[in-house]
Amino acid sequence: MQTTNRKDWPPISETLFIPLAARAAETTRKNPIFTDEKSLEMLRTIDTSTTVTDGGELATQGILARTKVIDDEVKKIIAQTPNAVILNLGAGLDTRMNRIDNGLLTWFDLDLPEVISLRSRFFSENDRVRFISKSVLDASWVEEIPLPENSTVVIVAEGLLMYFPEEDVIRFFTLLAKRFSGAHLFFDVVHRFFVNKKMSSPFLWGLDRAKDIEKLNEQVRLVQAWSTGNLLKERQSMLIRILNLLPSTRNRSQILHIQFAREDAQSNRR
Ligand SMILES: C[S@@+](CC[C@H](N)C(=O)[O-])C[C@H]1O[C@@H](n2cnc3c(N)ncnc32)[C@H](O)[C@@H]1O
Repeated sequence: MQTTNRKDWPPISETLFIPLAARAAETTRKNPIFTDEKSLEMLRTIDTSTTVTDGGELATQGILARTKVIDDEVKKIIAQTPNAVILNLGAGLDTRMNRIDNGLLTWFDLDLPEVISLRSRFFSENDRVRFISKSVLDASWVEEIPLPENSTVVIVAEGLLMYFPEEDVIRFFTLLAKRFSGAHLFFDVVHRFFVNKKMSSPFLWGLDRAKDIEKLNEQVRLVQAWSTGNLLKERQSMLIRILNLLPSTRNRSQILHIQFAREDAQSNRR
C-alpha cells in the first residue's frame, strides 16, 4: 500500500476519493453500468484509512450517472471528430481516457500540483496526454493548450464547480468562452438548496434551473441537461422516487452540456 502524505493537501482535493471509490465499487457490482479496473487498482494501493471515500447512496448514484452520461456524450462527439482535444479540469484520479480513448485524441489533465503529483504515480504523460499542475482559476493554464486549427475542444469539469463561489465560476466561464470559442463543456451542478449546507467540503455554488447557466455568460448556450433524479431509477429506493417529485431532490445534481458561441457568431452579436 502506498502511503501518501496528504496532511498538507487542500481539503477540497480529498474529495477526489469519493468518485474514485464509487467507480471502483461499481466495477465489482453485479450488472455494472460501466467497469473501471484502473480505479479499483488505484484504490487498492492508496492508503485511504483517514479519508472520506463514501459520499452516501445518493451522491454515489449521482457520480455513477454523470460518469456514464459524460462517457457516452464525449464518445458521440469523438466519433464525429476523432482528433478532438479533451481538457479534463479538476481531473483528480479520473479514468475516463481509459474507457473512451480512440488512439487519436489529445488529452490534458489539469489539477492542483499535489493531485497531479499523485496522479503521476498511476498515469504517464505521452504524445497525446499532458498534465497541467495549476489551479483552473489561474488563467495562465489556457496558454498551455495548443489548439490545432479547426480542432474540436471538449472540456469536462466533473465534481468541480460546486466548490467555487459564484464569482470564481463566472471568471471560469469568461476564461473558457474567450479562449475556447465553439468548445463543448460537460459539468455537474448542484441545486441551490444544497449550497452552504454543513458537509465535509461544502458546496458554494449551485443552480435551480439548468437554463439559468446562460445568464452567467452571454456566450453560453445550453445544449442538454440531465437531472440525476431521472437517471439510474432502477437503483432508487421508493422514498427517493417519491422525493424526486420535489425539484430540489430531482435536480440535486444535474449534468449540463453547454457550448460556447463560435468566434464568428460572437462578432455577429457585437
Ligand atoms: C470531487 S473531485 C473530482 C475529481 C474527478 N473530476 C472525478 O470526477 O473523479 C474534485 C477535484 O477538483 C480538484 N480541484 C479543486 N479545486 C481546483 C482548482 N482550483 N483547480 C484545479 N483543480 C481543482 C481537486 O483537487 C479534485 O481533484
